[in-house]
Amino acid sequence: MSANRPAAVVVLAAGEGTRMKSATPKVLHEICGRSLVGHVVSAARVLDPEHLVVIVGHGREKVTAHLAETDADARTAVQHEQNGTGHAVRIGLEELTQSGVALDGTVIVTCGDTPLLTGATLQKLSDAHAQDGNAVTVLSAEVPDSTGYGRIVRDPADGTVTAIVEHKDATEAQRAVREINSGVFAFDGRLLVEALGKVRTDNSQGEEYLTDVLGILREAGHRVGAAVAGDHREIVGINNRVQLAEARRMLNQRVLEDAMLAGVTVVDPSSTWMDVSVTYEPDAMVHPNSQLLGATHLGAYSEVGPGTRLTDTSVGEGAAVNNTVAVGAEIGPRASVGPYTYLRPGTRLGEKVKAGSFVEMKNSEIGEGTKVPHLSYVGDAEIGEHSNIGAASVFVNYDGMNKHRTTVGSHCRTGADNMFVAPVTVGDGAYTAAGSVITKDVPPGSLAVARGQQRNIAGWVARKRPGSRAAQAAEAAGTQGDKTDESA
Ligand code: UD1
Ligand code: CA
Repeated sequence: MSANRPAAVVVLAAGEGTRMKSATPKVLHEICGRSLVGHVVSAARVLDPEHLVVIVGHGREKVTAHLAETDADARTAVQHEQNGTGHAVRIGLEELTQSGVALDGTVIVTCGDTPLLTGATLQKLSDAHAQDGNAVTVLSAEVPDSTGYGRIVRDPADGTVTAIVEHKDATEAQRAVREINSGVFAFDGRLLVEALGKVRTDNSQGEEYLTDVLGILREAGHRVGAAVAGDHREIVGINNRVQLAEARRMLNQRVLEDAMLAGVTVVDPSSTWMDVSVTYEPDAMVHPNSQLLGATHLGAYSEVGPGTRLTDTSVGEGAAVNNTVAVGAEIGPRASVGPYTYLRPGTRLGEKVKAGSFVEMKNSEIGEGTKVPHLSYVGDAEIGEHSNIGAASVFVNYDGMNKHRTTVGSHCRTGADNMFVAPVTVGDGAYTAAGSVITKDVPPGSLAVARGQQRNIAGWVARKRPGSRAAQAAEAAGTQGDKTDESA
């Protein structure tokens, strides 16, 4: 735990985000498996603040509900009208002081739309703030294009920070400055409350600017400083969906680099997408065009992809999963899945199970060494160990009203093109004939045959299709125009 634990973190997230052109509030858009505000809150949690308040406004019902789900300890404060960043912080601090929180200590302010900002950078800001004994420390950055940002104005004599001037209020000379305000600050809590009371609205936007607090504190004789971010790309805010895609690509790159440095082979980082919540073991391998989402886990020596999307799916050690879509599935060690396989929630494959091409599975448990190699649907089933399910089989689990379960034992051999009409049980070591519709339980060790008998009607083509190509071919093959029924 950090020695200088902040009293509070205030996250500004009340803005509308008009340029997203979305029915979803801006801070709820997602990259790498987490909302924008979720990334900010999780970075803030690295500082272990005593309190965390998110200022909500536009779409506040959705944002509040989302926060309740993802971080139950986060508080919210409502800013009904967006009268500026200073106003927003004031509302956040009032929410805390009204519930008896004393704001002695550091207050960190950050924005809900900067998902790339890391906990480590926030920690550096907080540490620099404490070490320098500042009243306020702004996280600044040197950017290639400072258009639109507040500029950091420094004293020409000693280089200390004197003020932040908003782009719209800046002179030509100030606009040339490339050091900008990231929108992230560390404040002395008490001095912040005091200074916010003095912020005015006589600026081009008629808003209470949080940035004015710097000048106010400096004029009152307090120390004002800046901590320059090591990588300016960390502080980019998202305003539209182009920036959303850029941020996603950057964060994904970071997530993949962590995975690679931890021993995962990523064959093509440019076509691989991994959520921040994915876990892995060394020597897992990911082939191109794959998406690893949610609580997915890759075991050691597992091979995933190409062309695979796994959501909340665990892949056992040494398993291979190729051209597959899986959601909420558990794939056992050394199992083989795909190509072209769909595993739906509740699928659990044991060790060395094979789920082959054009196989869909749902809510089913498949025992060790069992194979479902081709063109089958397995729904609501339990299959034992070392059984083989014939090609093109369907576990008929739905009667139009309710779902029912099928049980197949161990060491079974079921024929191709079987229908298992649930509820039904096939005992251990049983066989079923190809083309069977299994509606009754099959005792262990039996062969079940459930299909129509074949009849061959001799000479039918010569009689019914005389002169046709088929009749000519049959005649050349030497069949007689015999009228007997030669059914077996
Ligand atoms: C702000 C800073 C600017 C900085 C830039 C960094 C001020 C006055 N300016 O400018 O110096 O370079 O961020 O991105 O602080 N918000 C509220 N309530 C409000 C206003 C804003 O919650 O009343 C939130 C927004 O949702 C957003 C953040 O505060 O998350 C920043 O607001 P925005 O309007 O984007 O500020 P900028 O003009 O970009
Ligand atoms: Ca902004």
